[in-house]
Amino acid sequence: MAVQINPSILSADFARLAEEAEAVRGADWLHVDVMDNHFVPNLTLGVPVVESLARATDTPLDCHLMIEDPDRWAPQYVEAGASSVTFHVEAAAAPVRLAREIRAKGARASMALKPATPIEPFEDLLPELDMLLIMTVEPGFGGQAFLDIMLPKIRRTRELIGKHGLELWLQVDGGVSASTIERCADAGADVFVAGSAVYGAQDPAEAVRALRTQAEAATAQASWACDH
Ligand code: DX5
Ligand code: ZN
Repeated sequence: MAVQINPSILSADFARLAEEAEAVRGADWLHVDVMDNHFVPNLTLGVPVVESLARATDTPLDCHLMIEDPDRWAPQYVEAGASSVTFHVEAAAAPVRLAREIRAKGARASMALKPATPIEPFEDLLPELDMLLIMTVEPGFGGQAFLDIMLPKIRRTRELIGKHGLELWLQVDGGVSASTIERCADAGADVFVAGSAVYGAQDPAEAVRALRTQAEAATAQASWACDH
């Protein structure tokens, strides 16, 4: 699978979201962080904003739900126009049922792990998912430092994907930048969320292109990708 770069609008100007989406034209997805001030200590946006944003841009929306009770809310984000919906396994009451519901409604189903949540208990669940998100910071805020201690988890997840022959995308989110993206790609990630590294740049579209070039080069050298 080709490298994908998903700018996070958490670092964009919320009063100008349509223009900020346009500013990263060429990105694969727009990453939309939904926070409820319960699952994480921050509050962002909800279904009505996603609905408006979906109408305002052609770039597909990758909604990352950092909320309690995703079993209840996630399907509404599909109806609002999200093409991919990520719920946190720590918050989901019935992750298999929820993933199936998201898929049945026509979106890609994705599950996220906070830094302290291991992948191993969820090996049997991976075929139910289109993407797995490994958080490389504690969720809640943009601009935090990348957690290098997550690299072994990315590696082990990539091994599980290979072992089961899955088409699962492996996303990393948090502290991804020009100085960390190569480590992520080398470890096995293929979908990269970047907030401050994109919207903090002079030219966000150019930042997306530069990150993609770096990630592609690192993937071409990576042992996990060598067999294809
Ligand atoms: C953090 C969010 C991230 C955030 C990443 O909880 O899930 O998507 O926007 O921001 P950076 O890339 O600045 O770490
Ligand atoms: Zn996110």
